[in-house]
Amino acid sequence: MKTLVIGGSGFVGYYIKKYFDCQGTSLTGKEGCQKLDITSERDIGEFIGKNRPELIINSAAMANVELCEKESNKSMLVNGQAVEWLARSAQENNAKFVQISTDYVFDGEKGDYNELDKPNPINQYGKSKLVGEENALRHDAIVLRIEMPYGINFAKNKNTFFESALNNLSNDKEVNAAIDQIISPTYVEDVPKAIETLITNSRTGVFHLASKEKLSRYDFVTQIARTFELNADLIKKVSLDDFKFDAKRPKKTSLNTDKISEIFTIDSLNRNLSKIKDMYKT
Ligand SMILES: NC(=O)c1ccc[n+]([C@@H]2O[C@H](COP(=O)([O-])OP(=O)(O)OC[C@H]3O[C@@H](n4cnc5c(N)ncnc54)[C@H](OP(=O)(O)O)[C@@H]3O)[C@@H](O)[C@H]2O)c1
Repeated sequence: MKTLVIGGSGFVGYYIKKYFDCQGTSLTGKEGCQKLDITSERDIGEFIGKNRPELIINSAAMANVELCEKESNKSMLVNGQAVEWLARSAQENNAKFVQISTDYVFDGEKGDYNELDKPNPINQYGKSKLVGEENALRHDAIVLRIEMPYGINFAKNKNTFFESALNNLSNDKEVNAAIDQIISPTYVEDVPKAIETLITNSRTGVFHLASKEKLSRYDFVTQIARTFELNADLIKKVSLDDFKFDAKRPKKTSLNTDKISEIFTIDSLNRNLSKIKDMYKT
């Protein structure tokens, strides 16, 4: 199936592009991607009309939560409106469409959210991503919600929470990790594999892809330290309330994965961390 990944130069998009060995686009055209600014409806139409992919996966986003809060109109354009243009163009060209979304569409009051739970975003990033989801679903798409993806960031475009923690611990530096933010991180290598499974099984609608383990950021970093044999005494327990952010952060955003687990196997966090450790060695 001829596949196109939008945002192929990003952390997650890089893995999608590599797995499907497919064409990719990005805003600036790096990492072997072609330039395509998804804030232009005309450019999207021309690109898709010319290249005629059969599957389009949108991993492009304005993913910086603080920046979205400051530049709310731009975040709504990139994360919300542009998804309508992409999904519509996909449908017009008979291509399947997959939108990558986030746990941040939830308010974080409950945790263990399933696909039927009602989103209620509390910051601009979450609000804009929810608009993107709604736009995608109007065009018979798959919306795949992921949470704090972890793995090596080959795109090297930013410091992920996972790599920052690992680098700090490796360099004998302290890591502050919240005990009251409960997460279920997504193994980044699973993203393209899960998409392939959903497409093969002709699924549409919303799906959650995350770890089965629901744990605090503190416990996540502790597991990283254990797997990589690093000094866990460097991990300092803090509260989310200790951080001064412009954008509010939801506290309990773990995702329930029962629905996707019917067709896709998610390995344990421990096993996935060990796989990453082996990857660093090679
Ligand atoms: N990272 C997380 O913690 C996290 C958590 C949950 C969900 N997600 C979701 O996962 C997806 C991937 O996130 P990520 O962390 O991989 O993002 P990322 O590393 O920040 O990459 C963003 C990608 O979007 C592209 N892009 C940005 N603005 C664009 C525009 N106007 N036109 C075209 N392309 C544009 C970038 O292109 P350039 O490189 O050329 O600028 C880059 O390829 C997003 O949907 C995000 O919401 C991420």
